[in-house]
Amino acid sequence: MRIEQSERLKQIPPYLFAGIEIKVAQMRARGEPVYDLSIGDPDLPTPSEIVKALQSAMADKENQGYSSSKGEPFFREAVADWYSKRFGVKIDASKEVCALIGSKEGLANISNALVNPGDRILVPDPGYPVYANGATFMSGGKALAVPLLEEYRFLPEIGKIDPAGAKIMYLNYPNNPTGAVASREFLKEAVDFARDRNIVICYDNAYSETSFGEAAHSILEIPGALDCCVEFNSCSKTFNMTGTRIGFAVGAADAVGALSKVKSQMDSGLPPYVQRAGAYALSLYKGREPPEVVRKNVGVFAKRMKLLSEGLCEIGIQCRPSPATFYLWVKVNGSSVDFANKLLGKGIVVTPGVGFGSYGEGYVRFALTRDEEIIRKVIEIMKVMDL
Ligand SMILES: Cc1ncc(COP(=O)(O)O)c(C=O)c1O
Repeated sequence: MRIEQSERLKQIPPYLFAGIEIKVAQMRARGEPVYDLSIGDPDLPTPSEIVKALQSAMADKENQGYSSSKGEPFFREAVADWYSKRFGVKIDASKEVCALIGSKEGLANISNALVNPGDRILVPDPGYPVYANGATFMSGGKALAVPLLEEYRFLPEIGKIDPAGAKIMYLNYPNNPTGAVASREFLKEAVDFARDRNIVICYDNAYSETSFGEAAHSILEIPGALDCCVEFNSCSKTFNMTGTRIGFAVGAADAVGALSKVKSQMDSGLPPYVQRAGAYALSLYKGREPPEVVRKNVGVFAKRMKLLSEGLCEIGIQCRPSPATFYLWVKVNGSSVDFANKLLGKGIVVTPGVGFGSYGEGYVRFALTRDEEIIRKVIEIMKVMDL
């Protein structure tokens, strides 16, 4: 018998990092040294008090059954409370919040909820691959790239976006892969554009807490945003909980309700004990300022950012440290794949920019998810390479 992928699935490339993971596994199997700065999965542990909250919640019978797919009321209340403290935004936990199995799941599933086959999906380019691939695969929509150019600080030129047939628009700041941040003025411009044209903004704020200067905004701070935006965030990057899979969607009640409806046919919610741990983690915020565990994390990434950006500058590769995220987006000579392959030949794994879209060509992304010793080693190796 022959098993064939659906036509829709055939149209999307393999997930960007799946190929990199295979290459890294092969190198490790051959006993070669690997300095992996490719994937955005922090090497730092989940803070022990959150681990303890998870362990004790799991031991309680009350937290061992199915959850509602939109999340338990206590978790949705904790998310609403966090929005109030962190961003000063009032959210109705009963209809403007949905729990997610990590923000990735929601970012893909929202297309299922809102997009019809043939509708346009506006996606930042370069951008997190789930927007252009996962979302179009789910819905049959057509991705239209919105360029993020260095000369505009990697923000889209809103006035140049063609809104024809667009149903949703993804935006992501602090940005992966460029590390760029968005001002309130930019967010207001985006909200005004979308609201006037019936486009739902799917705002990916997964790196809201990994910021080295001014705290990042929520798009929901902008007046009118609750009419036309859904924001996605998670505990993954903020609390080093990538493997625990807990995220949330917050925003326009009709869009959040539609997402919950999709999920009710697909999953039976997050384990309640995971939601308890997520609620505990969010409750560590007592106001706008991050708690000690988050500040410590951000401090580690800030030091790594300085070390790598200064090291690269010293060896003649010009780059500016990112103001946020744990990514450094570096302009290179020639093709991004050739540059990444050259580094791979020396055991250094980075992500070629073209993997994030055609406007990512000419760049590579370094993820600062390994310790300073590894970063120093990478600089030392690159110093003697002909790049
Ligand atoms: C921009 C962006 N959004 C969302 C995610 C997904 O994170 P999670 O599903 O763990 O919340 C990632 C993960 O790397 C990301 O880089």
